[in-house]
Amino acid sequence: MKKKTAYTIKNLLELAAEYFDKAEIESPRRNAEYVLSSVLGLNRMDLFLKYDLVVNDPERVQFRCLAGRIQKGEPWQYVIGHTSFMGLEIDVAPGVLIPRPETEELVGHVLDIVKKNERQNINVLDMCTGSGNMIIAFAHFFLNRAESSPSQTTKNLPGLQMFAVDQSLKALEIAKKNAAKFPFKDSIQFFQGDLFSCLEENNLAGKMDIIMSNPPYVPSEVLKNLSVRVKNYEPREALDGGADGLDYYKRIIPEAHRFLRSRAFLALELGEHMMEPIQAIFHQGGVYDNIEFIKDDAGRIRFAFAQKR
Ligand SMILES: C[S@@+](CC[C@H](N)C(=O)[O-])C[C@H]1O[C@@H](n2cnc3c(N)ncnc32)[C@H](O)[C@@H]1O
Repeated sequence: MKKKTAYTIKNLLELAAEYFDKAEIESPRRNAEYVLSSVLGLNRMDLFLKYDLVVNDPERVQFRCLAGRIQKGEPWQYVIGHTSFMGLEIDVAPGVLIPRPETEELVGHVLDIVKKNERQNINVLDMCTGSGNMIIAFAHFFLNRAESSPSQTTKNLPGLQMFAVDQSLKALEIAKKNAAKFPFKDSIQFFQGDLFSCLEENNLAGKMDIIMSNPPYVPSEVLKNLSVRVKNYEPREALDGGADGLDYYKRIIPEAHRFLRSRAFLALELGEHMMEPIQAIFHQGGVYDNIEFIKDDAGRIRFAFAQKR
């Protein structure tokens, strides 16, 4: 009788990485590790510690099935159903944008601004929330700072009310599911609608201490040239910023002003090379000052901050 091959973690990773490499998948080995660790319920480090562990048949079949999806170009985050944002596990699925690492930097800057705020009650709005990654990470790190800062206690942390808007029902469904995993879930109100329309209906004009947003900003023509992984799988409505990529800034910058308190902040992520037109949009209305552009870790100008006059 023919002896059955026993596949170890090491064998499967090597086979899958080779399979992905032939299909020209970026970071083939990393993709294999993410998928196998998800199937086995291990973290990536454990894979290396258990290299010679034999993977059982049902797990191997499941791995092969998920690997087939990666081979066709589907992002590993959709295949395993989650990603990491600022170290937090965030669920994602087709229909919602996969959070990007540079957006973690935007949330870091927003945390710095809000920590300097001396108000007793702070209202924060995440416009275009997607998976809810930004508002969830913001709340998590804002509320947990008492633990990392000996001078703070949970008692003297200010009250936090959060609002998150998206037009996509699918995105909101995932954002709510993500928020439900955290103790502050009831402090976030989710609204479905076109930008600020739903806030107007809920009497939130003039109430926000900070509005943060990572809106769609890819110029429509550029979308066609993005990788298969992005253009065939991620939602167009999360990416397409119109002909020049600026459609959302032309609306968000003037409209946000009405929902900010006096001297409150607007914080935006932007595409590369968008600083000049966005600066012009800020200046057009003449209702903001302290307009500042900040570079990301790779040295590209990717964030804009402005204060309501
Ligand atoms: C670039 S994604 C950002 C998602 C998430 N905040 C992040 O940083 O990963 C933009 C989001 O804007 C939403 N969106 C597009 N048009 C919108 C509109 N008119 N009103 C509200 N949300 C909109 C999309 O559904 C998508 O979730």
